[in-house]
This record gives sequence, C-alpha cells and structure tokens, in this order.
Amino acid sequence: MEDTTKPIVMNKLNGSYADSESKIIPVKVHRAIQPFDPINKILIQPKLYSDKKGEGAFWKDFNWETASKEGMKDAGLPFSGKITFVKTEMNWPINHQVSFAKDAVQCSECHTRENGRLAKLTDFYMPGRDYSRFIDLFGVWNIILAIIGIIIHASLRIFFRKKIKNGAHNEN
Ligand code: HEC
Repeated sequence: MEDTTKPIVMNKLNGSYADSESKIIPVKVHRAIQPFDPINKILIQPKLYSDKKGEGAFWKDFNWETASKEGMKDAGLPFSGKITFVKTEMNWPINHQVSFAKDAVQCSECHTRENGRLAKLTDFYMPGRDYSRFIDLFGVWNIILAIIGIIIHASLRIFFRKKIKNGAHNEN
C-alpha cells in the first residue's frame, strides 16, 4: 500500500504576500527517505564517508546502525540506538543543477490562466492569470460602442459635408 504519511519539511519557507520584503525565489524540492531516531524524535545524521572500511561510514560498511552511531557521535547529538525511516522534504535554493538558458522558466509559465506554476497561490492579483469577467465585458463593450460612435460621427460628417458643399453657405 502507498505510504501517505506527510513528509517532514526540514526547512520551511516563510515568505508571504503580505510581507513586503518577501521575494519569489526558485527552489528545488529535495525529497528523500532518511533515518530517524524514534526515541529522541530527531533525524539521524549518519556518517557517510571514510577512506577505510570498519569506521562506520555508510558508503563503506553499509550498516545503518554503525553509521548512525558514529554520525551522531561526530555531530554531538544523542542517539538511542533505534532507527526508523521517514520521508523528508528540503527546499534547496537553485545553486545546484542550474538549467540551461533555453530551459529557463518562461513568463507564461506563471502568467497564464491555465494551470500555471502559481495557480495554487491565491489571494492576490497576478496579471495574465487573474481577470474580472465584468471588467473584460465592460472593455469589450467600450470598444464596440466606440466603433459605433465613430461610424455614426463619420457618417454625419460625410453627410453634412455634401450638404454644405451643395448649399449657399459654402465658403470655399
Ligand atoms: C515564478 C512565476 C513568475 C514568472 C516566471 C514571472 N512572473 Fe511576473 N509576476 C509573478 C507574480 C506572483 C506577480 C505578482 C506580484 C505582486 O503582485 O506582488 C507578477 C507580476 C508581474 C507584473 C506586474 C508587476 C506589478 O507591479 O504589478 C508584470 C508586468 C510581470 N509580472 C511581468 C513578467 C514578465 C515580463 C515575466 C517574464 C520575463 C514574468 N513576469 C515572469 C510571477 C511570475
């Protein structure tokens, strides 16, 4: 069965639209499964690397118990000896694996009415995504009425120009 527990978010991004200092920044969401100490309720920092076997480094000895014990000792953190694994999510600022210019995010990926990248962020107006049916309709009718007005005005001018030419008051 699929695991539906929520991941632990390791570094939460706290910006908000209400905060005038907030900026939109690109991040990569790093999703992982990491060792966790269920007694002390903290993530385990395993020892990963060493030159030699037998020092507990995970990528040499492939043993979670010793890697966790050694890693937590190096980090100066408590370790109960118990290990479970939890889903985690970490937000990385984009300074790894930067895309080529041709793959850069396009304006229309956010500024679009259909499933844009920021479609789920509501409560503010974003040009190209949000619109008012009423104002759009109002604008369309403004254009239509202006064209009708121009046609009426131009017709009247053409009509009276002929009349004046034919009449006694023509100054030319
Ligand atoms: C990551 C999503 C994203 C991308 C990509 C993006 N925008 Fe925006 N843009 C926004 C958001 C969100 C706002 C609204 C900001 C606000 O109201 O404070 C915005 C606002 C604007 C505004 C209105 C600014 C204002 O003062 O109201 C303009 C103009 C604009 N964007 C143009 C562009 C152009 C041009 C590009 C491409 C070069 C682009 N955007 C790319 C998210 C994006």
